[in-house]
Amino acid sequence: MASSGSRVVDIHTHMYPPAYVQLLESRQTIPLIRRFAGAKDPRYIILPAEAESLEKISQAGEAATATTQLPGRPVTSHYSSLQQKIHFMDTHKIDISVISLANPWLDFVAEAEAAETARSVNREFESMCLEHPGRLFFATLPLSAPAEELLAAIEFHCRGVILGTSGLGKGLDDKRLIPVFKALAKNGLMIFLHPHYGLPSEVWGPRATEEYGHVLSLALGFPLETTIAVARMYLAGVFDEVPDLKMLLAHSGGTLPFLAGRIESCIVHDGHLVREGKVGANRRTVWQVLKEQIYLDAVIYSEVGLKAAIDASGVDRLMFGTDHPFFPPLTSDEQGEWESMTWNKAAVEKALGEGSQGTLAVMGGNAIEVLRLKEDA
Ligand code: URA
Ligand code: ZN
Repeated sequence: MASSGSRVVDIHTHMYPPAYVQLLESRQTIPLIRRFAGAKDPRYIILPAEAESLEKISQAGEAATATTQLPGRPVTSHYSSLQQKIHFMDTHKIDISVISLANPWLDFVAEAEAAETARSVNREFESMCLEHPGRLFFATLPLSAPAEELLAAIEFHCRGVILGTSGLGKGLDDKRLIPVFKALAKNGLMIFLHPHYGLPSEVWGPRATEEYGHVLSLALGFPLETTIAVARMYLAGVFDEVPDLKMLLAHSGGTLPFLAGRIESCIVHDGHLVREGKVGANRRTVWQVLKEQIYLDAVIYSEVGLKAAIDASGVDRLMFGTDHPFFPPLTSDEQGEWESMTWNKAAVEKALGEGSQGTLAVMGGNAIEVLRLKEDA
């Protein structure tokens, strides 16, 4: 287990750098950023249901914006201000942040523009890292660009790439992604797998949009999306084909630690897989992949889920995160303490003991070792 004194590292923390915000402001279809007369902050609109509300408001005209709930979420200074990120880190005694571009990354950018867009986003991140030596690292990936262009966009402070579950449009079990995975593995770049699309809105029922806010899609849709993506990669044999591939899964692996046993049972009892010879004695189980190729963040807000994550992957493979700038406090000062810090830290301490070696490792030591954070310019 890694020991690094008591450095705190936040490996799940996002930003939308200014050039990316401009790109979103110029768009007519989701994802997009829209300003509304009278509203303090612009709104970030990413979900299909939010696009429908935007359409209704646009048809009703400007006057409606005063009385109607605006679609999407406010784009506060926390989204793109470096000063605000450093303030958040200082307030919560976070020594190092490994910043990733927030969802939906470059998923919507056309193939021809993907590499250049990633390069400009990465350059912006790199200059932020240079302003605060030793405190910032980052991850971005122009997925739709070829592997060599993808690698060309990597900068000195880049320690991995953030990736959504859609891949090139057909998910991460798509054979076309194998060369990308191999290139990343060969270059020691970890994939940070993060959800964005959730599940089809029908599963939430007709009352969800009006009555349940974003709870179902964020609390359940996101983690299930991650779980499904990794299960598909496992079933497609991606982890065997690229054994050096390392993946960090958002939100403690979705529900993977909890469901790994059930996935295993379904595999060994599946007549089709058995007949195809896919359940042989040398098969690496989901449990093995979890301990050999997967890392999990500790963004699960409770020691119950965290203990499952620790049991599944091992305490040396868990890394603390906050998901800043998402989930700001709604009833206290945004410049003060955020529950995403205090709840996730308390979960680590409850699961592993305050001040224990395990807690120090999860809070920072593991990230420093695994992501080579001592190696700064
Ligand atoms: N909502 C998002 O859109 N992204 C996150 O990472 C968390 C909440
Ligand atoms: Zn996140």
